[in-house]
Amino acid sequence: MNDLAPTREQRTAALEGMGCKRKRVEDIRFTQGKGNYVDDVKLPGMLHGDFVRSPHAHARVKSINSEEALKVPGVLAVITAETLKTVNLAWMPTLAGDVQMVLADGKVLFQNQEVAFVVATDRYAADDGINKVVVEYEPLPALIDPFKAMDADAPVLREDLAGKTTGAHGPRKHHNHIFEWTVGDKDLTDAAFKKADVTIKEMISYHRTHPSPLETCQCVCSFDKIKGELTIYGTFQAPHVIRTVVSLIAKLPEQKIHVIAPDIGGGFGNKVGAYPGYICAAVASIVTGKPVKWVEDRIENLTATSFARDYHMTTEIAATKDGKVTGLRVHVLADHGAFDACADPSKWPAGFFNIVTGSYDFPVAHLAVDGIYTNKAPGGVAYRCSFRVTEAAYCIERAMDILAQKLGMDPAELRLKNFIKPEQFPYHSALGWEYDSGDYHTAMRKMMESTDYAALRREQADKRAAFKRGETRDIMGLGVSFFTEIVGAGPSKNCDILGIAMFDSCEIRMHPTGAGIARVGTKSQGQGHETTWAQIIATEIGIPADNIMVEEGNTDTAPYGLGTYGSRSTPVAGAAIAMAARKIKAKAQMIAAYKLEVHEDDLEWDIDGFRVKGLPEKVMSMKDICWAAYNSVPPGMEPGLEAVSYYDPPNMTYPFGAYLCVMDIDVDTGVYKVRRFYALDDCGTRINPMIIEGQVHGGLTEAFAIAMGQEIRYDDTGNVVTGSFMDFFMPTAVETPHWETDFTVTPSPHHPIGAKGVGESPNVGGVPAFSNAVNDAFSFLGATHIQMPHDFWRNWKAAKELGAFAA
Ligand code: CDP
Repeated sequence: MNDLAPTREQRTAALEGMGCKRKRVEDIRFTQGKGNYVDDVKLPGMLHGDFVRSPHAHARVKSINSEEALKVPGVLAVITAETLKTVNLAWMPTLAGDVQMVLADGKVLFQNQEVAFVVATDRYAADDGINKVVVEYEPLPALIDPFKAMDADAPVLREDLAGKTTGAHGPRKHHNHIFEWTVGDKDLTDAAFKKADVTIKEMISYHRTHPSPLETCQCVCSFDKIKGELTIYGTFQAPHVIRTVVSLIAKLPEQKIHVIAPDIGGGFGNKVGAYPGYICAAVASIVTGKPVKWVEDRIENLTATSFARDYHMTTEIAATKDGKVTGLRVHVLADHGAFDACADPSKWPAGFFNIVTGSYDFPVAHLAVDGIYTNKAPGGVAYRCSFRVTEAAYCIERAMDILAQKLGMDPAELRLKNFIKPEQFPYHSALGWEYDSGDYHTAMRKMMESTDYAALRREQADKRAAFKRGETRDIMGLGVSFFTEIVGAGPSKNCDILGIAMFDSCEIRMHPTGAGIARVGTKSQGQGHETTWAQIIATEIGIPADNIMVEEGNTDTAPYGLGTYGSRSTPVAGAAIAMAARKIKAKAQMIAAYKLEVHEDDLEWDIDGFRVKGLPEKVMSMKDICWAAYNSVPPGMEPGLEAVSYYDPPNMTYPFGAYLCVMDIDVDTGVYKVRRFYALDDCGTRINPMIIEGQVHGGLTEAFAIAMGQEIRYDDTGNVVTGSFMDFFMPTAVETPHWETDFTVTPSPHHPIGAKGVGESPNVGGVPAFSNAVNDAFSFLGATHIQMPHDFWRNWKAAKELGAFAA
């Protein structure tokens, strides 16, 4: 052997494959201001569009007068619903099977709804133009409280649905009702409650909030009249779906539509749906023959594009007196706003909320969800979570704490007692899922040991005693949360969008020099796909990650994929990448066998090439095989080294985690301090530990924001009172706590590399950890459940109501 030859460790390290903390390749351009975002797209003759928006939450639109607006220098056109009707685009279908006004048609149904689109030579002129459009409104009573939506005398919001007693998801019970979705066995669940020693019941609300990507939603539409082709640059999390939707609703041939999602500055679910801005910019470009740019501002983003959550969950648990859960019953009132524009796979009107049994072995459960209309913005996106999974995790994790309190048990011990056991996997939940794998006890115990949970409880007891003696005004809370996620939408047997199965795809082309390009159907918005996808390929085919260029987001070049949201990229596209790489490897093996003059079966894989079994000197590296693929393939074999894989996953993946938040709250001011936050995540095989850590930090920061203050709040008349970053809580580095991260590894048994998604987990597990910490602190003063968000003022109010200021 040659002593200077690299060792196996050196050869493995040189690949920077899976498990390596490879630095993010995209950061070279992102940190130098060299990214290419939609607002960087500047086409010759480009025009700009801006919206006239409704100041009212509910009003009849009596007239729209554009005369003065058209006199503003630079203003070229004012598009209204009447204009859109001429091309049959005044309304558009939503992903949830409803229809939505593109521009106000007779009525407005939420504040800041799009009323008219002003097109001008620059953004300033468009803005001047919108101020000159005169709209005459007749205000109508606004319906804001979801609990009043189905009152007999509640105002009729959707006049277009008059007389429709069924919707996309079955019968409608009331003029403001959208659907009822039920899962589970009601009779068995009711029977379990009748027999129970102990029951709890609580209305647990998860308030309305909104993702805040750094870059708002935007597009540039450019119609080429000569070729009849439409090119759309946009902030799209799912570019191929946008192409198909545009083709279907604009009746343009799909091959003549080019959708390009360049760099995207964060998505978090906000950029999945289709918004009026896209339709109006496309129509304006077709009408004017010029490219048209539409860029939302922050207030428009927060108040008019897709919101998240707004679930009001009446939750009941039945249990034995020693703390074994025997039944779960949940009713959800889901506030969908003015249109049902929820971004969920087609057959799932409440997403995957039926993961609400969580990590616990509930023998029976029953769930009913009622979706309703109100005078609020439409949407219902998976803001840093898989579809409605964060609502489900919050619901069950609060409820388990409430049960622990009633039983006088420690919340961690109650969870350990009820966890699904490792030997029960694959586990069939009472609400219909097959959990692929998990080892919850190990994760929970690791969390408890790493944080010295027992010592923290002792400290809490001492502090409570000191509070009672009047020696401190601080109360201490320990927020335990254990979550099971369901990510990787999804298997074609139960997941589609508009009839298109939710597979994903990868195409790999290896070039003669041993470099290659991989094109994938997903679209990174900051998750580092260019870095991690190359790492999967590096490990699979032994080519250094640096030699693989990853491309996403251009529908002309990338294979059809369903995009990136709900942590589906690793479970679905990650699998497609591994499968495409394995096709490359299989062909490479045939080429190597031919070149080494042995049978294929006599070869074995060795880090970065094949070697002849028993003859370690007789090797052919993948790099050399790439060269051979272009000049000396076996007779009858096609030259080249390329492969495509479309991967339809057999199941979802089920990441999980154990979190602990340690918080002190000053009862006199409501000011809280997150003293410690420990997050243990299990996402199966870890592709890039550093990226995972970054994902966890980001997700926890969003969870912190949501639990501790971030909220889209309306007043009684439907005004959004938290419509800008002045009022909508966006934590900076100053407020953000320090995060401690940890992990266990339980590979997914059905995923080619054993990986599960991770991006959404910290939000799913983080929110209940914060809320449980606040509730745990106040439980000592007699609280059972305090609704989120837990900002200073609400904490102070809770303390006051619980008698903390009594003499
Ligand atoms: O769909 P999305 O990209 O938002 O979420 P994800 O599949 O959880 O992946 C987020 C990032 O974490 C990607 O860069 C993944 O490659 C990386 N990741 C990882 O390194 N290992 C895992 N087991 C899961 C994700």
